[in-house]
Amino acid sequence: NWTMKAFRAQEIEKVRAQVGSGRVICGLSGGVDSSVVAALLNEAIGDQLTCVFVDTGFMRAGESEQVVKVFRDRFNIRLVHKDASDLFLAKLAGETDPEKKRKIIGATFIDVFEEEARAIGGADFLAQGTLYPDVIESVSFTGGPSVTIKSHHNVGGLPDRMNMKLVEPLRELFKDEVRALGRELGLPDDMVGRHPFPGPGLAIRIPGQELTRERLDILRQADTIYLDEIRKAGLYDVIWQAFCVLLPVRTVGVMGDSRSYDYACALRAVTSTDGMTADFYPFDMAFLGRVANRIINEVKGINRVTYDVTSKPPGTIEWE
Ligand code: XMP
Repeated sequence: NWTMKAFRAQEIEKVRAQVGSGRVICGLSGGVDSSVVAALLNEAIGDQLTCVFVDTGFMRAGESEQVVKVFRDRFNIRLVHKDASDLFLAKLAGETDPEKKRKIIGATFIDVFEEEARAIGGADFLAQGTLYPDVIESVSFTGGPSVTIKSHHNVGGLPDRMNMKLVEPLRELFKDEVRALGRELGLPDDMVGRHPFPGPGLAIRIPGQELTRERLDILRQADTIYLDEIRKAGLYDVIWQAFCVLLPVRTVGVMGDSRSYDYACALRAVTSTDGMTADFYPFDMAFLGRVANRIINEVKGINRVTYDVTSKPPGTIEWE
């Protein structure tokens, strides 16, 4: 891709000019944007970069491991992987209110990130994967020139508190351009083409009940099966986002000769171009039946599967 080759070279020069011999911290989330920022900065300034990956414990199966494998082992980036899953669960104990959960997760994220940033001696710059649509959105919503940090895995407030300047090499790009740049930088295809995933992760896909490791594990297993079937059916790239929601209700079923009393889950899949509006995906019934069978047979704890046919609006993509 000629354009991306040129952009890559130009951005590398820009970053070098901005950063000089300063030190840079980059928060990695496993998502496309922060991954591309990390790979780009690694090329631009190598040793001056440290990535911090705050592991909430709310990621999909295998994704934390992949972050470490790709960035530490393959790109040779200095990476701090902080497993903070116990802390996140402890802070969220007993909480079921969606907004409170988000606030707790956001605040805990910033605390952990700040602690890890201090532990490595701080830095002069904080790198963020702010995209062009983020820049526009924040300008039109706040009227201000600076980017409002909209989700928890962007570390709002921290740059000022720790006296860091921002490095935002993706500020002129749209999502599809970020993906092209990621490919150009040699990131794995499945990382670059990944569906959007919310910062609070699986924690906002267990509505109405307290988060526990057990419930997260049940959800994670169902989610893995669902996405596996979507990939096998060749549908991953036509769907914007797909995921399971573990419902706060148990239902009666028959398993072999005995009665079961387990959770129900909902499957969600939508098409969209920007996440602002979305249509539910019209799977054929055979596909849904296959997924339901596998989940019920393979996941201990779920005995009923439903499909969410709500579009946005009036629904949101996530359930909370
Ligand atoms: P909703 O549910 O509002 O989601 O229709 C729109 C898009 O935003 C994602 N989302 C989030 N992303 N932090 C994030 O980084 C969040 O707190 C958050 N909440 C929703 C959602 O997955 C969808 O892509």
